Amino acid sequence: MEMQSLLEKADRVMMKNVSRFPVVFSRGEGAYLYDTDGKRYLDFLSGIAVHALGHSHPRIAKALVEQAEKIVHVSNYFYLEEQILLAEKLAALSGLERVFFSNSGAEANEAALKLARKYGREKLGGKYEIISAEKSFHGRTFGALAATGQPKYQEAFQPLPAGFKYAKFNDLSSWEAAVTPQTCAFLLELVQGEGGVNPATPEFVQGLAALSRRHGILLIFDEIQTGLGRTGKSFAWQHFGIKPQIMTLAKALGSGVPLGAMLATEEVAAAFTPGDHSTTIGGGGLAYTVALEVLKVMEEEKLPERTAQLGQELLKTFHAWQKELPIIKEVRGLGLLLALELTIPSRPIAEQCLERGLIVNAVTPTAIRLAPPLNIGEAELEPGLDLLYTVLKDQVVPS
Ligand SMILES: Cc1ncc(COP(=O)(O)O)c(C=O)c1O
Repeated sequence: MEMQSLLEKADRVMMKNVSRFPVVFSRGEGAYLYDTDGKRYLDFLSGIAVHALGHSHPRIAKALVEQAEKIVHVSNYFYLEEQILLAEKLAALSGLERVFFSNSGAEANEAALKLARKYGREKLGGKYEIISAEKSFHGRTFGALAATGQPKYQEAFQPLPAGFKYAKFNDLSSWEAAVTPQTCAFLLELVQGEGGVNPATPEFVQGLAALSRRHGILLIFDEIQTGLGRTGKSFAWQHFGIKPQIMTLAKALGSGVPLGAMLATEEVAAAFTPGDHSTTIGGGGLAYTVALEVLKVMEEEKLPERTAQLGQELLKTFHAWQKELPIIKEVRGLGLLLALELTIPSRPIAEQCLERGLIVNAVTPTAIRLAPPLNIGEAELEPGLDLLYTVLKDQVVPS
């Protein structure tokens, strides 16, 4: 169907809960997307850090079809073979022994919050309070929203669940001040994604880990955006040498098929007993199979290592741009989760890139986020960078 008539239909029937660009996609291949009118776009956002292997990866497509023909779902009264194998793989990769599967990132965080609360109740003398960072993003469900330190997402939905507090990102003294005798967990993104791609400093993360040890507070890392190679390591915490007791994953894990996971140490996971928490599907057979294949491809192609190297090269390129283009105020990020902080509004930049066939994200009113597929080739990367550079250069008014 023609894009214009689809957009008119969308305007009539789709809920207006997000602000979308007027583009309808019908096909993807690697780093490329095609709209219903046949226009091609380079995707430097990957469905918000979801498509680590690009769109419609042949091995993912094959795994999906084979699993669909075999078995998809049984209910949470039983196991699926792929579910157990995926849990084993994630546990081995992270060193966190136990895994719970969910359908999304927000649900993985809900599970983490509930596990922390249950552990707090049973092992920490009834502690229940959770401290997260200002400008954090942990999801849209009520618990995850309560943990999200951004009033703009919360205001319309008050009252939110109680027992959540916020402290300043990268400011240890703010966390020290926020701790009370009721604090049971710290929840942190090691690179804040939706908050504008803000990497944590090693001093902050190490200080926070020491603070958590000192007070017997659980450390929960939300690796939903940063996990599985995106920052150049399997998990961002590996950059800091700090392993959490609880970690959440989603996005790249299912690579577009709904799947989240909450992992915990044996000791913390033991707080959950049968009946405490569950979900009917929790990803399901298609998602487990896809995740197993994603992890296999990542390992075979050494994607975390490649991402680390590519990320370094891109930072170098952007710093060179910064010297030339005064509208670039700051360059930040880790691996292939990067941002350009601008002195001008970011939305028109994203719109102009889109117009010319490049997808980037105006993550904050003044920052452009880039999160290309981890396996993106030079042949896709170069023209995308050239286009972005041209759009940015076009904004500089000659004096
Ligand atoms: C760090 C982080 N946590 C949680 C979420 C929520 O995940 P989902 O949208 O799958 O519920 C996101 C989504 O952007 C995220 O970036």
